[in-house]
Amino acid sequence: MATRRERAVRAAVEQGLLGPDQPVVGLLDVAGIRAAAAELRAAFEEVVTPGTPVLHAFAVKAAALVPVLRLLADEGLGCEVASPGELALARAAGVTPDRIVLDSPAKTPAELREALDLGIALNADNPQELDRLGELVGDRADPPAPLGLRINPQVGGGSIDAMSTATATSKFGVALQDPGAREWVVRAFAERPWLTRLHAHVGSQGCPLELMTAGIRAAYELAEEINGAVGRQQIDALDIGGGLPVNFASDEITPTYREYAQLLRSTVPGLFDGRYKLVTEFGRSLLAKSGLVLARVEYAKSAGGRPIAVTHAGAQLATRTVFAPEAWPLRVLAYDAEGRPKTADGQVPQDIAGPCCFAGDLVARDRPLSELAAGDLVGLLDTGAYYFSNHFAYNSLPRPGIHGFDATAADGEVRFATVREPQTVDEIVAESGAAHALGLSRLR
Ligand SMILES: Cc1ncc(COP(=O)(O)O)c(C=O)c1O
Repeated sequence: MATRRERAVRAAVEQGLLGPDQPVVGLLDVAGIRAAAAELRAAFEEVVTPGTPVLHAFAVKAAALVPVLRLLADEGLGCEVASPGELALARAAGVTPDRIVLDSPAKTPAELREALDLGIALNADNPQELDRLGELVGDRADPPAPLGLRINPQVGGGSIDAMSTATATSKFGVALQDPGAREWVVRAFAERPWLTRLHAHVGSQGCPLELMTAGIRAAYELAEEINGAVGRQQIDALDIGGGLPVNFASDEITPTYREYAQLLRSTVPGLFDGRYKLVTEFGRSLLAKSGLVLARVEYAKSAGGRPIAVTHAGAQLATRTVFAPEAWPLRVLAYDAEGRPKTADGQVPQDIAGPCCFAGDLVARDRPLSELAAGDLVGLLDTGAYYFSNHFAYNSLPRPGIHGFDATAADGEVRFATVREPQTVDEIVAESGAAHALGLSRLR
């Protein structure tokens, strides 16, 4: 991984992907993405009864980029989408409706109708949505797509509040341990023979594997209870969500899909005995370690004795890291202007600042690194998931271009493919209301 990354950084400079006019780019390691997808598939193949259908639906929010969705589809993955935009991206990538799952806590009637018309599986979030869905399904015995209900097993949170979806008061799903909720869910399935799935996503980064497996166990036990109550295998699929945490501290991939699948098998053996189809929704763990943000140091200065590298990577793309640095620390590597690692012995604690006009726009504080100079580069590691799709439009800074790379050739040649063009200033002006420039002036 590190070797491919170093080759790609060098080649990105040599091939002019980065320069004074393009001071920040995103890079994606295609071999790393393919390997992660293969590991996910293998981990579950090892634990399921042979022949059990398993759909690994990539959580599009983690990398809302059509070529990435296409690459993952080539690797046998589908898509989990949570908005009309994400659904459109999945379709643009050629992912077929039978390989898409729609989750979102605020689906409109039009979105529900569209999913049903297209034959896309969806998970209702709450009783009101289930009623809406019931009206759309009408008297059909067989709805055009598999329909499920999301539950919140309320097993607790992880170390990052904002990523913990199974707390007592989380906004997602039916809170299973609330008074009367379990009985309601059992009845809801008994009254709706077309409801055939249960969904639980316990949380994302910061959630220990034991917490995630406890939540999935709760969903499995509920499915067993419901099927027992109705006297048939009405629930025939369990959607166990995503959430495998990512190690942001080194190149080591830990925990692995294999560890998670093995723990699931020992905690919830019945999940894998062939009676339930499975859906997973991993996002971060599939992409994070294959991504890198590369940015030029525009100036190197100092304030109050603290060296500061002013770069072009800040809150506009590392939004969570800047606003919640404790929860989302990133590794930073220093490169010279040619893209060679700067490995001088003496490391100097420095702030790595971004281009945004507010003081807190720092992706790392007091970080020991070889001293950076104007024209050098910084690499923000493990940024393949969420960093390229959570852009923050502050200061009207453009979304950077993203390039995939293949750095596996024996002769050292690195090939790039465009994933997304950099946003242009004209595009920013257009999406900022340029067509309506006189709109306000005409009002009193
Ligand atoms: C319903 C659902 N599924 C899957 C995911 C993906 O989680 P992760 O990227 O941590 O794997 C999320 C993340 O927010 C989610 O809300």
